Amino acid sequence: MPAVGLRPLLPADIPMLAAIFVASIEELTEDDYSEAQREAWASRAEDEDAFAARLNGQLTLVATIESSPVGFASLKGKDLLDMLYVHPGFARQGVASALCDALEKLATARGATALTAEASDTAEPFFARRGYVGERRNTVTVGDEWLTNTTMTKSLGGATPAGHAS
Ligand SMILES: CC(C)(COP(=O)(O)OP(=O)(O)OC[C@H]1O[C@@H](n2cnc3c(N)ncnc32)[C@H](O)[C@@H]1OP(=O)(O)O)[C@@H](O)C(=O)NCCC(=O)NCCS
Repeated sequence: MPAVGLRPLLPADIPMLAAIFVASIEELTEDDYSEAQREAWASRAEDEDAFAARLNGQLTLVATIESSPVGFASLKGKDLLDMLYVHPGFARQGVASALCDALEKLATARGATALTAEASDTAEPFFARRGYVGERRNTVTVGDEWLTNTTMTKSLGGATPAGHAS
């Protein structure tokens, strides 16, 4: 397993993260979503300003291998894991695990007692393995397409009461 580094989002990362977003959807979700569904989903990165605004409006972490971005994840507010995308060339190497480990700690530091994700059908086994529990199936519209996902929540437990050092 290569060493995965983590760092905060930098403005210069946006085009690379948009490319990771598109490649990840196109190549990793093929078994779960049709070509039309994947195209609609990936088109959300076409407007780079809107894509940048979404990432900048959240706590976004970039995962690197040998200093190059290979994935990213974002925490919206204190308790919603909004985005999680890994470049297909680096899948199944622990990149998403490293990102989630960090975001779960940051959510706890923000006072969250549980973390929720709208897990794609592709990501569901990943989240299940980390202890997230499915709460409900959803159907969301993206452009003209309908995509399914699952709301999954993990109890973060062990939150340290304010004022107590740990
Ligand atoms: C889901 C995703 C983020 C996982 O990233 P990853 O870096 O490959 O995940 P990890 O290597 O940390 O996986 C850890 C464990 O999760 C499970 N897992 C990960 N991807 C899986 C998959 N596609 N199918 C089944 N189990 C999977 C495995 O148990 C894996 O451990 P193993 O490789 O030792 O078997 C990645 O596949 C992705 O970007 N998918 C497309 C975009 C997407 O659906 N994002 C989620 C939006 S909510």
